[in-house]
Amino acid sequence: MASLKEKDFGTPARESDKMVTLLIDGVEVTVPEGTSIMAAAAKIDRQIPKLCATDSVEPWGSCRMCLVEIDGVKGTPSSCTTPVRDGLSVHTQTERLERIRRGVMELYISDHPLDCLTCAANGDCELQDVAGQVGLRDVRYGFDGERHFGDKAVAKDVSNPYFSYDPAKCIVCSRCVRACEEVQGTFALTIQGRGFDSRVSAGIGSDDFFGSDCVSCGACVQACPTATLTEKSVEQHGTPTRAVSTTCAYCGVGCSFRAELQGDQVVRMVPEKTGGANEGHSCVKGRFAWGYATHKDRITTPMVREKTTDPWRKVDWDEAINFAADRFKKIQEKYGQNAIGGITSSRCTNEEVYVVQKMIRAAFRNNNVDTCARVCHSPTGYGLKNTFGTSAGTQNFKSVEKSDVILVIGANPTDAHPVFGSRMKKRLRQGAKLIVADPRRIELVETPHIKASHHLQLRPGTNVALMNALSHVVVTEGLVNEAFVAERCDPVEFDRWRTFVAEERNSPEAMADKIGVDPQEIRKAARLFATGGNAAIYYGLGVTEHSQGSTMVMCLANLAMATGNIGREGVGVNPLRGQNNVQGSCDMGSFPHELPGYRHVSDDAVRGSFEDDWGVSLSSDPGFRIPNMFAAAVDGTFKGMFVQGEDIAQSDPNTHHVTAALEALECLVVQDLFLNETAAFAHVFLPGTSFLEKDGTFTNAERRINRVRPVMEERNGLSEWEAVCRLAQAMGYDMTYNAPSEIMDEIARLTPAFAGVSFDRLDREGSLQWPVNDKAPNGTPTMHVDGFVRGKGRFMITEYVPTDERTNRSFPLILTTGRILSQYNVGAQTRRTENSRWHDQDVLEIHPFDAEERGIADGDMVSIQSRMGAVTLPVMISERMPQGVVYTTFHHPVSGANVITTEFSDWATNCPEYKVTAVQVARSNQPSDWQKQHGEMRRTHYLRTVEAAE
Ligand code: SF4
Ligand code: SF4
Ligand code: SF4
Ligand code: FES
Repeated sequence: MASLKEKDFGTPARESDKMVTLLIDGVEVTVPEGTSIMAAAAKIDRQIPKLCATDSVEPWGSCRMCLVEIDGVKGTPSSCTTPVRDGLSVHTQTERLERIRRGVMELYISDHPLDCLTCAANGDCELQDVAGQVGLRDVRYGFDGERHFGDKAVAKDVSNPYFSYDPAKCIVCSRCVRACEEVQGTFALTIQGRGFDSRVSAGIGSDDFFGSDCVSCGACVQACPTATLTEKSVEQHGTPTRAVSTTCAYCGVGCSFRAELQGDQVVRMVPEKTGGANEGHSCVKGRFAWGYATHKDRITTPMVREKTTDPWRKVDWDEAINFAADRFKKIQEKYGQNAIGGITSSRCTNEEVYVVQKMIRAAFRNNNVDTCARVCHSPTGYGLKNTFGTSAGTQNFKSVEKSDVILVIGANPTDAHPVFGSRMKKRLRQGAKLIVADPRRIELVETPHIKASHHLQLRPGTNVALMNALSHVVVTEGLVNEAFVAERCDPVEFDRWRTFVAEERNSPEAMADKIGVDPQEIRKAARLFATGGNAAIYYGLGVTEHSQGSTMVMCLANLAMATGNIGREGVGVNPLRGQNNVQGSCDMGSFPHELPGYRHVSDDAVRGSFEDDWGVSLSSDPGFRIPNMFAAAVDGTFKGMFVQGEDIAQSDPNTHHVTAALEALECLVVQDLFLNETAAFAHVFLPGTSFLEKDGTFTNAERRINRVRPVMEERNGLSEWEAVCRLAQAMGYDMTYNAPSEIMDEIARLTPAFAGVSFDRLDREGSLQWPVNDKAPNGTPTMHVDGFVRGKGRFMITEYVPTDERTNRSFPLILTTGRILSQYNVGAQTRRTENSRWHDQDVLEIHPFDAEERGIADGDMVSIQSRMGAVTLPVMISERMPQGVVYTTFHHPVSGANVITTEFSDWATNCPEYKVTAVQVARSNQPSDWQKQHGEMRRTHYLRTVEAAE
């Protein structure tokens, strides 16, 4: 269990090679140069009273509570703003200081309501603590004069669903304003007015939090020393009494949190300062959107049914598992060993994923296992493995603090990876340069105090052309880092590549028409990237979800190698992985051609080591990928599927095809929290556990293995890994563990990159970045430091091939899809929280010109028709879109964004081309045929099943 409160050092930690030694109250302390006296004192547990200082933000020196006396120095300097110096002798407690502090506190309290006993922060209020600490016994000024509380109070702002703002309790310390600026980088708050009239304001116009620019990250709530900004859950339940450290289960940033509870009731989730990925920050999802874990829609009893049109029948675990095993066995007898398979989930822990792939290989006796990475970052694995030798990003998140030039391509970090987005923004405010390559004008292009040097607003589907053009400039203008290439890369492959990209047809000018970007702009961006210092690439699904996704990842690796931006802090090729454990699910062997640790199933030695350990012979043939499974299901040769925590019916492309495949199955087993879209086609439903009930590990985008600890009892009575082990047993393969730590021990035993990982060690050390083994006993924050994992870095030829998905007169626009901050992927979790207040439906964004041409007004319903299908959505006219490109999200099942996406996919990995679909958009006043059918199905099928389940 974690301590309820993390220590507050008062001012941010400083890094310096020079150490300074001083005396504080006679005790010697040594700290890095630049550290404040306050933080130095905290280090030796001398907590100097403070109100306006906290270690998440720079000191401000306004409250005058933290004064100290220093030998030989006149007056009483504030310890938060005074840096340490060698040889100082500081006194934190003297009679004079006591008098001053008490006087200041008296003034504060004279304008503060005395309702401590009924205040939500009672027991968790710094003002209360410090009043006690300084021994305040009396307030001589009375409470009758000018004041901000009682009948003079400004109304409490309760507009935000998760926290409230009660100005009556504000001490105007500005910690909230500074947190919003420095930590989050949103600049939503200001101090309005002067002197006694000054108060915190969330907006000039609306002046309430919900209507302001606030993104509800909670940094201000975290920083507020009083109950002015308070979580509504604390108001409701009271202050927490215990805490458990765990990891956010949304995006691939992998923020560490302390779940703070009363008994089994989660009161709030507080970002952990010691969290390697987030260092005390969070976003609205991890911080506040955890209510789905106890939502009434959760199914906690196993269920079965003969046919998908039957109502569900609640059964016990044994019956559900035997039902599934019998059907799977019968299918294999009738249609052969390869007629069943499964999908692992990137939402689940490494241990849960590992047992599913093991069940498929050892109990199903084939390699028909795949994972959602197929539809997101499979090209990352392929591209980076071929060029560098490892299927993972090269840096940790902290590395961005050393970057001088940042290229963000096909990623929207402020929405999809918000905590990393904030970290990146901080570096950009410090002066790092930014290049954004994205068809949309994402927030980073221009946001308070940040303006991209270049926004390369390319046409969707032309990524490779753009990258080749950038590389052309590097090669032909003499910007190659020759020393790096000579030392670290394969010379023959490099020469081939250099000759290829230098060809005139790859120049920005030759490619300009295709890419749709001014060639001069491309040239300038290339020069900046190659000469601006440490240059780092951050990319997302805008890179991978294309027919040339793998080619594009290799383009990025080529550019990084050619400019020498690999192998140290501040540089690198960094995939911003989408799901919390997508890195982990790939590491754990969720691909049909790879055993855990990215080793091919045909490698006899590797397979032999698994066979010895598992006591079973394994197939050396790669199994089916998800699209192959669907195709074989439609053909009638694939009949059974185990789906762990994925909603493929909503998230995979070409919905008509996916649902036809699912309908053709004779046994679909879904393990999930909710009866999702996929469960509508299931015969067996195995209730899953939420992240608050799981015991295991997640691996984030920086290869960081974080612990996930059970915060509350399992609501379904059986861990997911136990249910899977029992299914494997019922299929005839003995798979047993006593605890998830044993699963990790097995992973460590069989996977060289994880050799040094164990739960004990993670519990002791917090987190570890793989590889962790004899060569890297403490883990690996930066990859490829002295050489590439594969030996010499390999340049790959990256010919631009236009996608087969072309616009024409019937389908003149390009649709591209993405995420927004408040919702998460298929929305199964976030739609069941107050986050829907920000986004209760998906909308289509369209450029004003394209709208006008079609007679479309803002808010109209429009039909979006592709070659695959049509859906109807409300429209938002937006200058963020370039002409000819429309954009939507896919967070709501009824929107059916994937009804229109095509079956085109990456040539190497089959990752679908979500980002490019040719469409036509027209006004419409009714749902599409698919939406009508889907609505009907919800009524007859989903609702009936849900009723039956309750
Ligand atoms: S919640 Fe976050 S974005 Fe909103 S005002 Fe507070 S710090 Fe700023
Ligand atoms: S709202 Fe809280 S953090 Fe902000 S100025 Fe008031 S007391 Fe300080
Ligand atoms: S940034 Fe990602 S990991 Fe962090 S709190 Fe938000 S959703 Fe969770
Ligand atoms: S804590 Fe130092 S002046 Fe407020």
